[in-house]
Amino acid sequence: MMEEKIREIREEIEAKIDSFDSSKALYEFRKTFLDNKEGKIAQLMKGMKDVPKEDRPAFGKVVNEIKEWAIARFDETDAKMKKLELEKRNAAEAVDVTMPAVTTKVGTLHPDTLIVNELIEIFAGMGFEVFEGNEIENDYYNFTALNTPEDHPARDMQDTFYVSKDFLLRTQTSAGQIHVMENKKPPIKILSPGKVFRSDDDATHSPMFSQMEGLVVDKGITLCDLKGMLDTFSAQIFGEGVVTRLRPSYFPFTEPSVEVDVSCFQCGGKGCKLCKGTGWIEVLGAGVVNRHVLENCGIDPDEYSGFAFGMGVERIAMLKYGINNIKTLFESDTRFAEQFKN
Ligand code: DAH
Repeated sequence: MMEEKIREIREEIEAKIDSFDSSKALYEFRKTFLDNKEGKIAQLMKGMKDVPKEDRPAFGKVVNEIKEWAIARFDETDAKMKKLELEKRNAAEAVDVTMPAVTTKVGTLHPDTLIVNELIEIFAGMGFEVFEGNEIENDYYNFTALNTPEDHPARDMQDTFYVSKDFLLRTQTSAGQIHVMENKKPPIKILSPGKVFRSDDDATHSPMFSQMEGLVVDKGITLCDLKGMLDTFSAQIFGEGVVTRLRPSYFPFTEPSVEVDVSCFQCGGKGCKLCKGTGWIEVLGAGVVNRHVLENCGIDPDEYSGFAFGMGVERIAMLKYGINNIKTLFESDTRFAEQFKN
């Protein structure tokens, strides 16, 4: 009877013990035999009371043997199973050191920003301060105070975006000159970078672009001061040996007005594709500040004089970096910007 029961327990354990897929399931199975109260082996022990006294030691021995066997069998299976589980987890969490690293993309400065930064550095070295004007201006600052009254033909030079009857998107950073001169007494030496807007759109023009304006007002300032400063600036931005040439031009806010060319930094002046065979490249407009502009700002033109200049930042970037379409500067393609890392 007793042997029968023990054999059954043994067979029951052997039949299933190797079929579990987790140590937790194995533990549940183990409890059905080895739980101190409910387990089948503990239940066997309860039969002791029905065994004659003289047979009890032998009975206890047999039950203990099956108990020890079961414990050893379960422990050994559990150890194997835990080892397998650990190997599985390690495999799942393994790091493949041959995988390519996850890199963080680092942005680059836009070519416009590179040029603006470079210009600021060059002019700051000559004592210029940076003044940032307003992108929305009224007619007075953008035109009238700059000696361009309402019916002045020069207004046609710039196709203006009007925001309302009185307000417009500034067409030129020159508008900032008026704010500076209204608020500061000479000596004045400012540099004013910023966005400007014109209804204009082709390979070299964009409805929004950037300008860099400069203004110097003090006693005894002449066109020669402008020329000297421009030569220094040109050599620094385009390279050693580059010089400037002034051509007569017209701007309402300067008199005389000039168009400034630099000697071609690619061919050294011999003539090439970049300078269209002329040896010179036009880079900016400038001139001696018109007396009327000084007067409009409450500065006495008999006591003070000044020069001003304005250049297109994209034009400088296109020349310097060999970019042939202004649109590429506004397409927000990071691969484009990456080419101009300094
Ligand atoms: N404002 C002019 C333009 O947008 C550029 C310019 C020319 C600015 C002469 C100046 C200057 O300050 O003196 O075309």
